[in-house]
Amino acid sequence: MSKEVKTIGVLTSGGDAPGMNAAIRAVVRTGIKKGLSVKGIYRGYAGLLQEEISDMDVHSVSDIIQRGGTILYTARCEEFKKPEYQQKAADICRKHGIDGLVVIGGDGSFTGACKLANLGINTIGLPGTIDLDIACTDYTIGFDTAVNTAMQAIDKVRDTSTSHERCSIIEVMGRHAGYIALWCGIANGAEDILLPERYDGDEQALINRIIENRKNGMKHHIIINAEGVGHSTSMAKRIEAATGVETRATVLGHMQRGGSPTAIDRMYASIMGARAVDLLIEGASNRVVGMKGGKLVDYDINEALAMKKDIDEYEFNVSKWLAR
Ligand code: ADP
Ligand code: F6P
Repeated sequence: MSKEVKTIGVLTSGGDAPGMNAAIRAVVRTGIKKGLSVKGIYRGYAGLLQEEISDMDVHSVSDIIQRGGTILYTARCEEFKKPEYQQKAADICRKHGIDGLVVIGGDGSFTGACKLANLGINTIGLPGTIDLDIACTDYTIGFDTAVNTAMQAIDKVRDTSTSHERCSIIEVMGRHAGYIALWCGIANGAEDILLPERYDGDEQALINRIIENRKNGMKHHIIINAEGVGHSTSMAKRIEAATGVETRATVLGHMQRGGSPTAIDRMYASIMGARAVDLLIEGASNRVVGMKGGKLVDYDINEALAMKKDIDEYEFNVSKWLAR
């Protein structure tokens, strides 16, 4: 069992995600309610190395649960991948009395958290990413908001696409993971979904379907393309040339990472934040909190990082069965 924790820190790292503020608020308020001192660390591991650390009180996190982004800011920090900087960060934690740390981010951030845990700082990870690409959990903070944002935007593109009888390629985020594309594909009733995990590059098959659907009187053709497949603009030009159907590309971009979090993201981020604090109080370290079958779970970070996640085959098939 690890030593008793008196002061905890919280930081956000990697890409921001709606609901991170709800998680920060839950860490701060649960910590204070349970008699701990809580410090906010700004700009992820980069800010930790610069000692950008402030005391938090219950008011520090007022009026943030409804806001996207992260009040602690976030960063990517290459230096932190080196052992000497990890040692420096652990020393800084000790200097500030931080004996427990909550890291809100993705797999990269958890790898960093694990290094700090190995250096004696009790550390808990919370899954914060719009990509849903963390294997140990069914839910990641921000995905629900991002997928709803993308879905609403795609509905709007569809209106104009149908009016002009066009084909539309809509690019959603996900460099390595196609979950936003898959969910939008089903939720928006797309004709085609291109996922980095599944797309075989067979553009001729896409072209054939567009031509076939046109012959059958279809007025639009929505292709949802994940960022990891990319090249939407050049693909649109090639498809237009091959099919004779006017084709436009829309890249939704970072709008998907912002905005007020949904109830699901506020709720789950809040209970995960509280759970992270409880784990630290129980003496746990090197754990990541997740959600499985609607229940909170936690795993050793190394075990969590070794888990593999792939697109659900049945969901992927459903997306095809429901498309024309
Ligand atoms: P995410 O946490 O969303 O996966 P990144 O992969 O960009 O995002 O990682 C965020 C940060 O976590 C990195 O900028 C770095 O500071 C830290 N990190 C990533 N990989 C490692 C690693 N192998 N060792 C230590 N720290 C890491
Ligand atoms: O946070 C995840 C994510 O939005 C991915 O979907 C995307 O590929 C990446 O981050 C973009 O990161 P950035 O533009 O912030 O470097």
